[in-house]
Amino acid sequence: MSREIRITPSILNADFDHLADEIAKISQVSDLLHLDVMDNVFVPNFTFDFASATSIIKMSDLSVDAHLMVADVDEIAPAYAEAGCASVTIHAEATQNITSTLRAIRKVGARAGLALKPATQIENYSEFIDDVDMFLIMTVEPGFGGQKFMTDMMSKVSRTRAIIGSRPIWLQVDGGISLETIEIAVDAGADTFVAGSAVFKAQDPAAMVTSLRELANSVAD
Ligand code: DX5
Ligand code: ZN
Repeated sequence: MSREIRITPSILNADFDHLADEIAKISQVSDLLHLDVMDNVFVPNFTFDFASATSIIKMSDLSVDAHLMVADVDEIAPAYAEAGCASVTIHAEATQNITSTLRAIRKVGARAGLALKPATQIENYSEFIDDVDMFLIMTVEPGFGGQKFMTDMMSKVSRTRAIIGSRPIWLQVDGGISLETIEIAVDAGADTFVAGSAVFKAQDPAAMVTSLRELANSVAD
């Protein structure tokens, strides 16, 4: 059976003044909507507070994959699950209590994700695997869209794939994913792809999501 590929567009580079229209452009062809929450503390950029994020979660026809780049993640992550996110991802570098926060997310019925910045090694976090539904390997420094894909993260993706083994854990990559970079990420073992500027700067965002998926499927084992 071939690996299931998921495309999760990020609205970070979408037109925030017309978000409903932007989401509608890709909702028929995407798996989840990737929502980047930044607090200007954990990363040097701010996107949404919880109230604004909640209104996007409620308004979106697509289920939401929240990527929390915030310092107070242990307090706020369960609230994102309660607000209706299908998946809530916390950063290993931000959490004070990985196990209890991952379990609190799952307890509300959402998938629990664990994200690693480029300098963070997967081997230090493999012990938490039984509480994880998705690993997110950052392929840029978190904080901004439109950055260059870090090819040197591919060995971490391969090592994470080996650690996952046959468990039904998703392996997401985020940052610089495009038609030029998705194949190498598939080859390394990723199955879930965030794409921000590649999708929302394309003339036809839905066609770009479909092209990314087709290319990924064509090289997936
Ligand atoms: C970066 C965010 C990404 C970003 C991806 O901190 O986590 O999700 O939006 O944007 P692109 O695809 O433009 O790198
Ligand atoms: Zn993200």
